[in-house]
Amino acid sequence: MLKRALLPALALGALAGCGIFGGGPHREHYPDARIDPFKGVEGDVGFSDTIQYWRTEADLQRHAALAEKPAEQWKLNWKHMDLDRIELHPGHLAVDEGQALVKKLAARDPAFLACLGEGSADLKGKAAAYPKFDAALGRIVTVEDRIEHCAKRVLKEDLPQGKPSNTKISVYFKSQSAGTPIGVDLSDGNVMEAYRRGEELFYRKTGQLNFACASCHVPGSIMGHKLRGETPTTPFGDAAHYPTYRTPVGALESIQERFARCHGQMRTQALKPGDPAYADLEVFMTVLSNGYPVSVPSAR
Ligand code: HEC
Repeated sequence: MLKRALLPALALGALAGCGIFGGGPHREHYPDARIDPFKGVEGDVGFSDTIQYWRTEADLQRHAALAEKPAEQWKLNWKHMDLDRIELHPGHLAVDEGQALVKKLAARDPAFLACLGEGSADLKGKAAAYPKFDAALGRIVTVEDRIEHCAKRVLKEDLPQGKPSNTKISVYFKSQSAGTPIGVDLSDGNVMEAYRRGEELFYRKTGQLNFACASCHVPGSIMGHKLRGETPTTPFGDAAHYPTYRTPVGALESIQERFARCHGQMRTQALKPGDPAYADLEVFMTVLSNGYPVSVPSAR
């Protein structure tokens, strides 16, 4: 009797959950992998468990033989720490170009550099704390957003995120933190909220294929399996080496441009670099690199 009364109620509840009675379009979610943001990059332990191979340069070297095994190569996350392993690649040239650009712009007005460094011309170590909440601007700010903002405010010049000049300056800015452990400040409530929004986006299915980021980047998904010549890997540690020089594309790529590229693979309308949703995703991804050293310049 009780069961009979309960069933229609449950069905109604399920329909409401589907958004038929609720507001807004219905979105499915890829099951949550329950990542603990406070573990930072160590959250990969018990996740993909590949961090044992790439945590340090010594680990990478000890497991170098994996590189010879096509099915297991991805575990190396060999993309990491290439700062120390590849001597010269176009990413290094981008650092020089970015530095020259900063010099040129700072010669027009030194306030540009002081704006980048939030009051000081010394950029050393500063990029490792990004993205962060900027109280004066009232929003989450990434390194590329800072560059766009300072160019506009101080020089009245457009240096939009995703444009090569912005990305080159970002590569230079981040190279000034190479080796510094990433430390996105989760004690800031605004950052934590952005993390949660980014996390929600990571699991939300979108586009013609109804894929979430998680459909390719968490254990039990496509992660570790070949997909059109590439193998999606763990999201832990990724943010540490962006912007990166992409050899197949022959150009620099910011992490938000990479999001757009993955959105393309998902047949989802990509957003523009600088979109608040991409800033939230960048917070999520960078928290998953907390504790891991900034590894810019890099190439892949
Ligand atoms: C259809 C599968 C697929 C989906 C869905 C997908 N990606 Fe990817 N992603 C890949 C592949 C393949 C690569 C290249 C291999 C790698 O580096 O992991 C990649 C690479 C990346 C990288 C760069 C890794 C590096 O070290 O260079 C980031 C960051 C990333 N994806 C984030 C995302 C985000 C955020 C989403 C959701 C908006 C997403 N991906 C959705 C397949 C996917």
